[in-house]
Amino acid sequence: MNEIRIAFFDTKPYDINSFNQENSEFGFDIQYFEDKLNNKTVSLAKGFDAVCVFVNDDLNKTVIKKLTEYGIRIIALRCAGYNNVDFKAAFNNIHVVRVPDYSPYAVAEHSITLMLALNRKIHKAYYRTRDNNFNINGLLGFDMYRKTAGIIGTGKIGQILIKILKGFQMEVLACDPLINEELSKELGFKYVELDYLLSNSDIISLNCPLNSSTHHLINKDSISKLKPGVMLINTGRGSLLDTKALIDGLKSKKIGAAGLDVYEEESEYFFEDFSSEIVPDDTLTRLLTFPNVILTSHQAFFTREALHNIAEVTLLNIKHFFNSTSYENEICYQCKRPCRKTRDEDCFK
Ligand code: NAI
Repeated sequence: MNEIRIAFFDTKPYDINSFNQENSEFGFDIQYFEDKLNNKTVSLAKGFDAVCVFVNDDLNKTVIKKLTEYGIRIIALRCAGYNNVDFKAAFNNIHVVRVPDYSPYAVAEHSITLMLALNRKIHKAYYRTRDNNFNINGLLGFDMYRKTAGIIGTGKIGQILIKILKGFQMEVLACDPLINEELSKELGFKYVELDYLLSNSDIISLNCPLNSSTHHLINKDSISKLKPGVMLINTGRGSLLDTKALIDGLKSKKIGAAGLDVYEEESEYFFEDFSSEIVPDDTLTRLLTFPNVILTSHQAFFTREALHNIAEVTLLNIKHFFNSTSYENEICYQCKRPCRKTRDEDCFK
């Protein structure tokens, strides 16, 4: 196992801590790079057997071609989403694995955090009381009890979110191309068409993956169908929302509040400290001027439990890839979805 060398990209101190702890059981030779993996930095991967990347590393066609030339056999995503990988380029060249469900609870709970904070204006109340301002004007919220939540995507995160929202005794509408009637009966929600969900929900949460069919799922046209004053929550991926259309929706008050953990152009800014700099992205800075927007920088996953699971499953994925004939968590271009086939019967020969 010692001889397997892994280049980690876009690493922060918390990644290094959790992976070093976990690696004491695996014994991989790990080198951590702060840089994100992209066209400019790909040469850092020379001499390694595997690369480990995160949400804002750019696994485009050129990067994948270079990685293949360097003899890298596996890209290990230490995240669930995989929209940053060109699978067509990877197919037949390099294997791609991910961590499908390190903690759907972390993300669902963060979605709830954004909802509650926006509804009861906790972000404003916090600053008021710290300034000895005990006035509550402008902090009016609404009972979530018996309001309607619309959940777009009833996968692992969406299901947990629904369970929590049912605890508030909310009505829950959902849409997903994969209808699971048993689940809807068990959890007490209704599958509906997207347009119905858009025009009947008081709170909408995006919990589907980003792909060509969900890119800008929420756009000018879909915003026109929303119930006035709706709250939008996006912990999925930034490009599920057309940010310019969102800003117009906020300005016209069609959208009453937005809780965003992801942003279309986040890769340059999120996870970094720009507090002493001028941020050149006018869309991002405009978003931050709204009193009814809370933006968190892709931290929904960030719990102790999730970090532990991410490190464990990522290293297991790599170990199984190099050591066994069967392994899980591969994402396959041919299947167009996560693939759990054994290596012998893999779509990827
Ligand atoms: P999952 O794969 O378990 O569920 C996704 C669901 O979305 C599936 O049921 C799928 O059928 C559905 N879906 C696909 N296309 C759809 C469409 N057009 N409309 C409605 N539903 C659609 O994925 P999981 O674990 O629930 O994660 C969802 C997304 O959350 C991930 O793809 C990832 O992008 C994001 N995520 C964000 C994190 C964060 O820290 N902010 C952390 C982890 C995941």
